[in-house]
Amino acid sequence: MAPVQRIDGKAFAARMTTRIADEVRSLFDEAGLKPGLAVVLVGHDPASQVYVGAKHKATIAAGMKSFEHRLPAETSEDVLLGLIAQLNADPNVHGILVQLPLPAHLDASAVIAAIDPSKNVDGFHVVNAGQLATGQDALVPCTPLGCLFLLQDHLGDLSGLHAVIVGRSNIVGKPMAQLLLGANCTVTIAHSGSRDLPALCRTADILIAAVGRPEMIRGDWIKPGATVIDVGINRIPDGDSTRLVGDVAFAEAGHAGAITPVPGGVGPMTIACLLQNTLTAFRRKLP
Ligand code: GUN
Repeated sequence: MAPVQRIDGKAFAARMTTRIADEVRSLFDEAGLKPGLAVVLVGHDPASQVYVGAKHKATIAAGMKSFEHRLPAETSEDVLLGLIAQLNADPNVHGILVQLPLPAHLDASAVIAAIDPSKNVDGFHVVNAGQLATGQDALVPCTPLGCLFLLQDHLGDLSGLHAVIVGRSNIVGKPMAQLLLGANCTVTIAHSGSRDLPALCRTADILIAAVGRPEMIRGDWIKPGATVIDVGINRIPDGDSTRLVGDVAFAEAGHAGAITPVPGGVGPMTIACLLQNTLTAFRRKLP
């Protein structure tokens, strides 16, 4: 059997970012306007600080305006909602992202609901989710959108393929299911409580792992030749240090048709799709 192919999300994301930057430049030449992305971080979660820094760098590299708001962990909901109202009203801000998780005293649902859906570049607002579920033009959550792009690039037409998604989160599992249904897949959403999960996974032509448990999906859960998309980013101890692993036991997946590595697979696509969504939100506001 042919050796497993690595799906290079880093290279794909770099090509996407170059195309977006070209488009931003020509829109600026035509209209004299630039897309702007506001990112709000509350508190000092170390992983969130890394993500927010990476988003800022990518936004600038794409020629967009980046507005960073780093607020103390004890920020009240009123203050945060006040900032969101200000960003909703600001014509220079086309995309708004509030980094999750929020400190425990803040209600993430209320905060997400306060973001204007036309600027909600995470696609987390119930209006965005409803538009996606009913097949309307929507701002789509970045991680599942990136997974769809990688699958279409690798497999072409996805019609009729059986996709099994392990994970039912609002951020990945549920929107991933909607996107794959839209691409004419047969879709199963499974989760850690599904009965005989290994057997279910073995029926997948496309296996999406989004459970957040290091290497939970073993090699013998993967059908030979299947395409595996590993959304997990888990830091585990490794001697005196740590290393990143996905939700799939990568070393056991030699019989898959293709698999995304961790790191360098889905992760870079999330940021590229955030830029794509910001550009989409900006285009929709052009006269
Ligand atoms: N935290 C981890 N991933 C994400 C994401 O895609 N968007 C936001 N807002 N927070 C996150």
